[in-house]
Amino acid sequence: MIRRLAPSVLNADLAQLADQVRLVEEAADWIHLDLMDGHFVPNLSFGPPVVAALRPHTVHYLDCHLMVANPEALLPALAEAGAGGVTIHVEAVDDPGRALRAAADLGMAAGLALRPGTPLQAVLPHLEAVDLVLPMTVEPGFGGQAFEDGVLPKIAAARDAIGRAGRPVALQVDGGVNAATLPRCLDAGADVFVVGTAIFGADDPAAAAKAFRALLDRGDR
Ligand code: DX5
Ligand code: ZN
Repeated sequence: MIRRLAPSVLNADLAQLADQVRLVEEAADWIHLDLMDGHFVPNLSFGPPVVAALRPHTVHYLDCHLMVANPEALLPALAEAGAGGVTIHVEAVDDPGRALRAAADLGMAAGLALRPGTPLQAVLPHLEAVDLVLPMTVEPGFGGQAFEDGVLPKIAAARDAIGRAGRPVALQVDGGVNAATLPRCLDAGADVFVVGTAIFGADDPAAAAKAFRALLDRGDR
């Protein structure tokens, strides 16, 4: 199974976004971008113009996590901005299937995210259409929160469901992922690891990202 590292720039120095991404360019597979609207979550971060501004500064796939109340409205602008994929919160849409199709029609990969308290059942009807499932391991909205161990059984159940679906669906973890919690996520079956504070809050983000890369590349951990 390919394991991917997706550094999240939410808690990086956003005044130097391109330079911060350059620090992790070698170690990263994807760059994780947290779009927040101040409604779906209490925090407000950035939107499609910042995604477009970053696009020429990295070769990596831009993995856009949409913590917004009306994600479908952003999809055309994100496709235009060069987003590789969008992850839509299942709690934010009336019809997840329609949102997934809209993203796919615009040429983007499409994922579904779940808040910690949202049952896995909410995404199961969409496993035939989805490219990624993200069971959040913190309440979405802020970086630097503590990992919720209680989500691990949901991650393992998602891995089983993906196995049964027999499709290449990525299983992402996001929130409180660090050197201590990442191995638990690996054991539960995750294969895309979003890491924010544990990289950009480190004294040497480039070295921290390389250490996560090494952790993921090690055969059995
Ligand atoms: C939180 C965001 C995360 C955040 C992760 O709502 O979705 O991507 O940046 O940050 P850490 O790794 O610090 O929990
Ligand atoms: Zn995120």
